[in-house]
Amino acid sequence: EKIMSNNTSVSNRWSSNFAYILAATGAAVGLGNIWKFPYIMGENGGGAFVLVYLLCILFIGIPVMMAEVYLGKQGRSTPANAVAKVAIENGRSKNWAFIGGMGVLAGFLVLSFYIVIAGWAVAYVFKSAGGDISAAAGDAKQIGALFDALTSDPKQLVLWATLVIVGTVVVLAKGVTKGLERIVTLLMPALFVLLTIIMIYAAVTGDFGAAVSFMFSPDFSKLTINGVLMALGHAFFTLSLSSGIMMVYGAYLPEGASIAKTSIYIAIADTVVALMAGLAIYPIVFANGIEPSAGPGLLFVSLPIAFGTMPLGGVISTVFFVMVTVAAFTSALALLESTSAYLVERKGFRRNVAAVVSGSAVWLLSLGTIGSFAGWEIFQFEESPMGKNFFEVLDYITANILLPLGGLFISVFVGWIVQADKVKQGMGLESQAFQMFSKSVRFISPIAIAVVFLNAIGLLSF
Ligand code: PFF
Ligand code: NA
Repeated sequence: EKIMSNNTSVSNRWSSNFAYILAATGAAVGLGNIWKFPYIMGENGGGAFVLVYLLCILFIGIPVMMAEVYLGKQGRSTPANAVAKVAIENGRSKNWAFIGGMGVLAGFLVLSFYIVIAGWAVAYVFKSAGGDISAAAGDAKQIGALFDALTSDPKQLVLWATLVIVGTVVVLAKGVTKGLERIVTLLMPALFVLLTIIMIYAAVTGDFGAAVSFMFSPDFSKLTINGVLMALGHAFFTLSLSSGIMMVYGAYLPEGASIAKTSIYIAIADTVVALMAGLAIYPIVFANGIEPSAGPGLLFVSLPIAFGTMPLGGVISTVFFVMVTVAAFTSALALLESTSAYLVERKGFRRNVAAVVSGSAVWLLSLGTIGSFAGWEIFQFEESPMGKNFFEVLDYITANILLPLGGLFISVFVGWIVQADKVKQGMGLESQAFQMFSKSVRFISPIAIAVVFLNAIGLLSF
């Protein structure tokens, strides 16, 4: 029983349900909402993708989040140990702990590109404050040139990504995450208000009608099976699922807290921010002839156009990118926490050593993403069958493979391996609500994930 012998169980709890919801929402809301969702929606033709994404959040994301929080709360331990503990309690093999290990790997890979994009946001704080955005005065070409200059300069990319990972390691190693959560408490409502202002400005000055019809009138001829897989994978990515982090948070959940209600609140908050980001970006995209399929640069070439024509645009741009940075930073902290906790739990590392070691490994891997954008030959993989560069491969492996597979295993574990009455009692659900949850984790989620997944990778085709 090596797993059990390490003392990794947790005894402290969130001070309230609200504190937990804020922390989990802080980990959920990040680059996935503001940077990734808008551009992958654009690559996949808009409305139909959005609809599938929303269905995935509702029928798969929320139940899987509940399952993960339940495992964390039941195991009262770090992910791999929590899963092993629940498996043993149910008379099953502790090897189910591999679910926790897989999540850690996914989180590690995600963080390696997450810090690069977070670095762009930091760079834009300085560009905004230094007057570059205002100087472009809303000229789309000039804004595009600013972005190209940043992403083609490896020195800058390395500098900003390094800053982000060092900051993450320092905060984690010092264990001041709690203090940071207090800051986030203030920043989340502020981000919401600012996004509302930007959205209204974009609606008034941009092409709001085109944006709304792009996002909300589904045209299924534009949606490929790979697009469906991306919508599914993004539902996991945006809610921070399959990466162990919701189990970590669940481990601190107060005994009486409602897993169902809190999960729904977190999912709503996350979805609202993503849709608001889309509604802020697309009016500007359409009014300025930017291609919705512009890719990872979309956020950085659209909103700065609006900032350049706004009264006080330089200030608003600075504040906006500070908020994007903070939102990304809280997610990065959660991601690094997952990797470090694993080293502490499995390898007996001291907490701060674990943070430095995993941070260094993340930094090294981030060079692959940097090289992908800066055009380094070895990271382009032009000859590869998929024609993807290192960053795109990493994104594909995590969002489209590891996260959905993790969700599949979690659903199967909680739906079929753990005894139903235990789950029902542990979650404090009434019969009807439990039936719905149970249907999802036993059937809807595993079947949908398997079908989409096998189709997209071409093993099974209708
Ligand atoms: N949910 C975050 C986002 O949408 O940006 C990304 C993320 C954070 C994924 C933390 C996984 C995680 F553990
Ligand atoms: Na998110």
